[in-house]
Amino acid sequence: MSRQLIKYVLEREDYGAEVTVAGWVRTRRDSKGGFSFIELYDGSGFSGIQIIADGDLPNYESDVLRLTIGSAARITGVLTESPGKGQRVEIKATEVEAIGFADPERYPLQKKRMSFEALRDIAHLRARTNALGAVARVRNALSYATHRFYQDRDFLYLHAPIITASDAEGAGEMFRVSTLNPEAPPRNDEGIDYGQDFFGRPTFLTVSGQLNAETYALALDRVYTFGPTFRAENSNTRRHLAEFWMIEPEMAFADLNDNADLAEDYVQYLVRYVLDHCGDDLEFFNKWVEEGIIDQLTAVADSEFERITYTKAVELLEESGESFEYPVRWGADLQSEHERYLTEKVFNRPVTVTDFPFDFKAFYMRRNDDGKTVAAMDVLVPGVGEIIGGSQREERLDVLADSMRIKGMDEDHYWWYLDLRRFGSVPHAGFGLGLERVVQFCTGMQNIRDVIPFPRTPRNAEY
Ligand code: 4AD
Ligand code: MG
Repeated sequence: MSRQLIKYVLEREDYGAEVTVAGWVRTRRDSKGGFSFIELYDGSGFSGIQIIADGDLPNYESDVLRLTIGSAARITGVLTESPGKGQRVEIKATEVEAIGFADPERYPLQKKRMSFEALRDIAHLRARTNALGAVARVRNALSYATHRFYQDRDFLYLHAPIITASDAEGAGEMFRVSTLNPEAPPRNDEGIDYGQDFFGRPTFLTVSGQLNAETYALALDRVYTFGPTFRAENSNTRRHLAEFWMIEPEMAFADLNDNADLAEDYVQYLVRYVLDHCGDDLEFFNKWVEEGIIDQLTAVADSEFERITYTKAVELLEESGESFEYPVRWGADLQSEHERYLTEKVFNRPVTVTDFPFDFKAFYMRRNDDGKTVAAMDVLVPGVGEIIGGSQREERLDVLADSMRIKGMDEDHYWWYLDLRRFGSVPHAGFGLGLERVVQFCTGMQNIRDVIPFPRTPRNAEY
């Protein structure tokens, strides 16, 4: 008899059938009547399954009574309608095979609830908890839904390089990739001689696959990347990671409106997908993590996003009478508190903000005719703030070169990027969605460190 995943066994109604399951013990209660209830969990869904292990089993004393929390077992038995509350079916065990015991004196995950913070210190075991298991399933669903969304719309999945020589955002927040001996690097007149490094030049981990995606969009029309990106910004906030996953679609023959339409459709698709496929997990989040999250997600999936310009957003914030930690003024970037005020207090729904000042946005964004703003957009959602940043790209060679000069960038270094504007340049646009931010939004999890398996943040790269 082959093993079945618990989520499928829980759906069965053919009582009397023999089933085999395997997983880890969540709880074990021993009844005075000489038998035990075991809850076994295999992560296939939110729920574990109840097993009744009778004292008559030949290895009851030697094995069953040693199956403490965290132990692994394979159990065969008869599928039975459950008289107890909380489950429809259970398994009356005919065979219990203890596979791996977990010393109860040393196993760090006990039945009492632990804080998410404490769980970070046992990140190698936290996937066994209800919460982190549910997060992993939602994250998986969002990844799968992403491919479905883009593949259904004829976008081609592109693998952008992880090691790069270019700073795609021009913000200088890159991790260096080098094989030089840090204790005695070769030197020249200018300092360390990266000409002798592995790639014969300075190289870094990518902050974004966008520039590479643009080259393919200007050949294949619609592409998207989905991969890890890295930022060496020293920000210890609940929504920043040093390593995070980004999805970056890029479309040729498209402007800012097309871009915003795609972004909003994509977010709604993701939310709808999670509502349709992660019901049990969402119910857990609704009950234990963020009350009302299901209603909120349903509203997001069903209603239009607000769309306003940055200038309008600044007006609304100024009129609000709210005292923000960071003062609001035209020309300064929106802070998390401003983003949240707009989505949570002013509109109570996601907001797409467009046309930001040129001064604090990236060099590649298309300059508007007003001379002050660029065709940029951020999608903001309640609870999290920015989940998407994007823009129409500057397709005019002279204007792009001018923007780069103003931002102090070396045009020679970006010769290939400028070539795209020399040969068959067309209007094009794209954006980046931070996967972890969307997982936070869909689960209500407060800290981004708890929605990626092994978070990388300043001073933290264990596991
Ligand atoms: O707004 P960002 O910096 O935009 C870009 O990287 C563009 N190249 C995207 C594009 O147009 N193709 O980042 C995009 C998104 C943000 O909206 C946010 O969701 C996420 O990436 N993000 C982070 N997520 C976690 N930790 C960080 N440090 C993040 N920085 C950005
Ligand atoms: Mg941004």
